[in-house]
Amino acid sequence: MSRAYAWWQREIIYQIYPRSFQDSNGDGVGDLRGILSRVDYLTSLNVGAIWLSPIYPSPMHDFGYDVADYCAIDPRFGTMADFNELLVEIHRRGMRLIVDLVPNHTSDEHPWFVESRRDGDNAKSDWYIWRDPAPGGGLPNNWLSHFGGPAWTFDERRGQYYMHQFARQQPELNYRNPEVFEALLEVMRFWLDRGVDGFRVDVISLLLKDPLFRDEPPNPAWDGVRQYASLRHIHTGNLPEVHGLIRRMRALLDSRDARMMVGEVYLPNAELMRFYGGPEAPECHLPFNFQLISTPWQAGEVRAKVDAYEAALPPGAWPNWVLGNHDQHRLATRVGLAQARVATMLLLTLRGTPTCYYGDEIGLRDVALPRECWRDPVAINQPQIAHLLGRDPERTPMQWDSSANAGFAAAGVLPWLPVAGDHRTVNVAAESADPQSILSFFRALTALRRSEPALGVGAYRSIDAVADDVYAYLRSDGESRLLVVLNFAGGTRRLTLPRGLGDSRILLSTTCRLPEEAVVVDRLQLGPDEGIVLRLAEGPSGGAPSPA
Ligand code: NOJ
Repeated sequence: MSRAYAWWQREIIYQIYPRSFQDSNGDGVGDLRGILSRVDYLTSLNVGAIWLSPIYPSPMHDFGYDVADYCAIDPRFGTMADFNELLVEIHRRGMRLIVDLVPNHTSDEHPWFVESRRDGDNAKSDWYIWRDPAPGGGLPNNWLSHFGGPAWTFDERRGQYYMHQFARQQPELNYRNPEVFEALLEVMRFWLDRGVDGFRVDVISLLLKDPLFRDEPPNPAWDGVRQYASLRHIHTGNLPEVHGLIRRMRALLDSRDARMMVGEVYLPNAELMRFYGGPEAPECHLPFNFQLISTPWQAGEVRAKVDAYEAALPPGAWPNWVLGNHDQHRLATRVGLAQARVATMLLLTLRGTPTCYYGDEIGLRDVALPRECWRDPVAINQPQIAHLLGRDPERTPMQWDSSANAGFAAAGVLPWLPVAGDHRTVNVAAESADPQSILSFFRALTALRRSEPALGVGAYRSIDAVADDVYAYLRSDGESRLLVVLNFAGGTRRLTLPRGLGDSRILLSTTCRLPEEAVVVDRLQLGPDEGIVLRLAEGPSGGAPSPA
């Protein structure tokens, strides 16, 4: 029963957006020494791996996802010595460090691009995707940028267009040129040699584009809102050849002990699963599974998504779950504060590796920002849909205490994004002192997950017809059987659970209630917005309820 599980299967990944976690030097931007000063907080969350969004030198048009040097630290974040120290401190506490790898594009200030754009005849002239104007002049084809407008920008000097699916300051590398891929592997070796435990790989499915540069077809289901969605992106992402590149990245990781990569892939199950690769040719250890972020927050819908994902996993593939990141509206804003605990219980009790976004553990919500505070190019380029897609609201400073800048930066410093107005009550200090807070609940849940192999690595099975608005599932490992029951509604729900489960004990509730007495599960009642984890005693039949 107890096969060995790798750290990236057992542990919770916690994402830090470095600009927003902790400022140590008074410039209003978070930094590595700030994170260092909070390492004990990370330990207190019982998370096992820290993922840092990019910390490399960057002109910050896309806040670090426009990298000007893959092998250095931006002075705003600190120095390589600070990085080394952080890595040592994280490792000393038994945690792992995952860094962000952004292979699809660089900054237009990266020396590779500076050289490439010099003329059409230099050593790096085809390291990026350059195209002549269309025969009659104008754009080479109809490809679009995620950030609004065309995916092409004209360069006067070369008299050509270069391609970018994000900001125009993010030219895309040409992985049809083998030298470019070799350079990427060198970057990976650089960080592996420094001791990082893994990579989160930005837009890994986009690395190759159609070599014929064909127009993309219109999207018949377009709702007319976001220009990027007006086309079906069949030539700019998810090309079959990309898997060959990913396999070689994986081979490099496999040549080093216990390193991993988690790929950013927004695709439906059938496509997503291909990013695991096969037993003979493995690819990502984990391709991010983002589907719960867009699933309507209803018990039946969520259960259907989880069961379909579980069923679609190829043999040996390890599941993973994500409910928030720096590109998505905050969890507590999407599902509401009351349901945020239920969602957190779901994330941390499903089978597979969970990724938590900083601040969700204290219930941070999107912060509505006046236009003069917008920093995100997605919002600035498309003001008419900024309220839908702008990403500043979910990137505001971490709230540590009730002081003027919430402890994120010294008083009097102007943070790069405003601190939320609710920071006087929603903060780590206040919530740590309150045993009923979402933070206390989060810590209790992560501790339970650590101590219960059934939650960490056990089998999963959902249970039918429990009650309207309730989703229930079993997690089991050997003799240990846990039942998770989640009430997605704001009213009380009485459950009809399969008979034969016997007496059980509540291990944890989202309300933090912990009755001493045993409960009879087939007479169980859940309060509004309540989720519970129960330990099932051996039933009279000695068995689990019949499968759904
Ligand atoms: C995905 C990242 O998560 C996002 O923040 C970024 O803007 C794009 N990739 C481009 O790197």
